Amino acid sequence: MRIDIITIFPGIFNGPLDFSIIKRSMDKGIVEIHLHDLREFARNKYRSVDDYPFGGGAGMVMMIEPIAECITWLKEQREYDEVIFLTPDGQLLNQNIANELSLKGNLILLCGHYKGIDERAREHIITRELSIGDYVLSGGELAAAILIDSLVRLIPGVLGDETSALSDSFQDGLLSPPVYTRPADFKGWKVPEILLSGHEAKIREWRLQQAIERTKKRRPELLDENE
Ligand code: ADE
Repeated sequence: MRIDIITIFPGIFNGPLDFSIIKRSMDKGIVEIHLHDLREFARNKYRSVDDYPFGGGAGMVMMIEPIAECITWLKEQREYDEVIFLTPDGQLLNQNIANELSLKGNLILLCGHYKGIDERAREHIITRELSIGDYVLSGGELAAAILIDSLVRLIPGVLGDETSALSDSFQDGLLSPPVYTRPADFKGWKVPEILLSGHEAKIREWRLQQAIERTKKRRPELLDENE
C-alpha cells in the first residue's frame, strides 16, 4: 500500500509514523508513506494556501489551486483508489471502513486546516470524507495518523501473528474480553481459574461470554448493529 499525505505541517507525522507497527510495516516494504507540503504547490511568493471566505465571515479557507495542483501531480504518476479528506463533518471512521481501506493499493489523504477547504475541492476532487470522532481538532493531521494506524495493522503480513488483528475489539462486532498475564495471584487478586485450566474449548467459550457481557455493559448499541 502507498499512502500520500498532503499537509501544511509535514513535521506532525514525524512521531506517529516512526514507531511500532507502522514503522515495522514500512521497514518490511509493505507500506510506503509519502509526505507532501501543500505550500510547495502554492502559487504566490508568500506560499499562501488559504484566503478569506467569499461572502465574509470569520476564519480562512484553504484554496483549491494548491490542492488541485498537488493531487493532479500525484495522479499523473499513478492511479489512486481514494482521495480522502479528513474533516469533522465526514463519515465516522469505524472498523468496517478500516477493513475496507486496508485492501486498497494507493490512497491520498488531505489534511484540512482553518475553516475548511474550498467546497469545489470536495465536490470535484475528494472521493471520500472521514471523521475520527465528534470533536474538532486543529487540523486533519492527527486524524490522518489515526486512520493510517487503524488500517495499516490490518494489512496481511504487518502484524507478526496473523490472527492478532482478527481478535481486536470491533473485528467481530464485540469488544475484546479481559486479558491477564503472570503472576496468577497478585496480592490476592486472582486470575480467573478457567484461564489456568488448559481447557481450550472452555476458555474460548468463557472469552466469548466475557466479550458479550463487556459489550452489553459498555457499548450496547454495537449488539443492535449486529442484528
Ligand atoms: N479535522 C478536524 N477535526 C477532525 C475530526 N474530528 N476528524 C477528522 N478530521 C478532522
